[in-house]
Amino acid sequence: NNTVKVGLMGLGTVGTGVVRIVQGHQEDLQKQTGLAIEIAKVLVQDLEKERNLKLDRHMITTDASELFDNPDIDVIIEVIGGIHPAKEYILQALENGKHIVTANKDLMALHGAEILSKAQEKGCDVFYEASVAGGIPILRALVEGFASDRITKMMGIVNGTTNYIMTKMSQEGADYSAVLKEAQALGYAEADPTADVEGHDAARKMAILSTLGFHVDMSLEDVDCKGISEVTAEDIAYAKKLGYEIKLLGIAQRDDDLIEVSVQPTLIHHTHPLASVNGVFNAIYVHGEAVGETMFYGPGAGELPTATAVVSDLVTVVKNMKLGVNGRGSVAPYREKHLKTDDQ
Ligand code: NDP
Ligand code: HSE
Repeated sequence: NNTVKVGLMGLGTVGTGVVRIVQGHQEDLQKQTGLAIEIAKVLVQDLEKERNLKLDRHMITTDASELFDNPDIDVIIEVIGGIHPAKEYILQALENGKHIVTANKDLMALHGAEILSKAQEKGCDVFYEASVAGGIPILRALVEGFASDRITKMMGIVNGTTNYIMTKMSQEGADYSAVLKEAQALGYAEADPTADVEGHDAARKMAILSTLGFHVDMSLEDVDCKGISEVTAEDIAYAKKLGYEIKLLGIAQRDDDLIEVSVQPTLIHHTHPLASVNGVFNAIYVHGEAVGETMFYGPGAGELPTATAVVSDLVTVVKNMKLGVNGRGSVAPYREKHLKTDDQ
């Protein structure tokens, strides 16, 4: 069979982008994989919702089992978000031998080890590039690009919504609540934007980066986290007067086996490159013992940037299918618990 059939769970911001890219780049995808990729079934919550995408009515369902129990479907893309029922759907899909691509940082930060162990048991792929920094291929860089090095620090802006808000407040004196609404309308914010503004979304991403970059099982509760909800327009204006921008910064660093991870609003001098990372853009510095300092920059959220990460993961799954090597990349993180400075 020359076609790989995909079940898509979720047709919101990211799901819509996935359909557009799979349909729009079909020829390029086929050139790379040697196989046609077809979105066969799409799971939504509300069948009656108006969509700005034309799909055959028979393709859309509210019954998840039509995806994970369908013997013709090889890969499930999960972009519904949240823990439940996404976790149960993914575990059932893995049980049935489906490969998984997900953008779900909540799930991977909290239950990644369980999902990856199940994938390993079943010989299935699980990829989740879109879960951190939208369109920036940072997880691939950590797992493959820096495989030979020892990463000592990762630092940067990993939430697009809060960076969009802080940029608009700093540059245009915009009102916090009005810009948050804009970020929601643009599809950048989480379903519950508290996760963005209180720093939880960034904390989940820093936990995933630390797990992959430091080869530890980094728990979310060990990430010190403070969001931007208490940062006022006056704070931003005053910082600006002194030559600083306020950015929500994630920092993960290790010294031997001691690891510290935090997310907090931070003063950044206007001459520092992170001070000019604006709008929905994200940037991450990765410092390795051998390579020194590197920086990754790009759109951190939004329909098409995020969907590129999802569909690139899908391409990897399909290439693996062709080679018969699925499951080899889905290695669970090291189970050693890291030591935090505070525990000493
Ligand atoms: P949206 O809220 O835009 O879309 C969610 C989709 O999932 C909708 O189509 C909704 O159905 C469907 N859905 C939700 N719950 C259920 C359920 N219980 N059963 C069936 N379908 C359900 O979310 P996003 O596309 O913004 O985000 C999806 C995931 O991607 C999240 O994990 C998010 O964190 C992650 N992500 C998002 C980014 C972004 O820029 N938006 C960037 C990076 C990651 P219906 O349409 O019928 O309401
Ligand atoms: N709500 C997230 C953000 C989406 O604004 O960064 C991308 O992960």
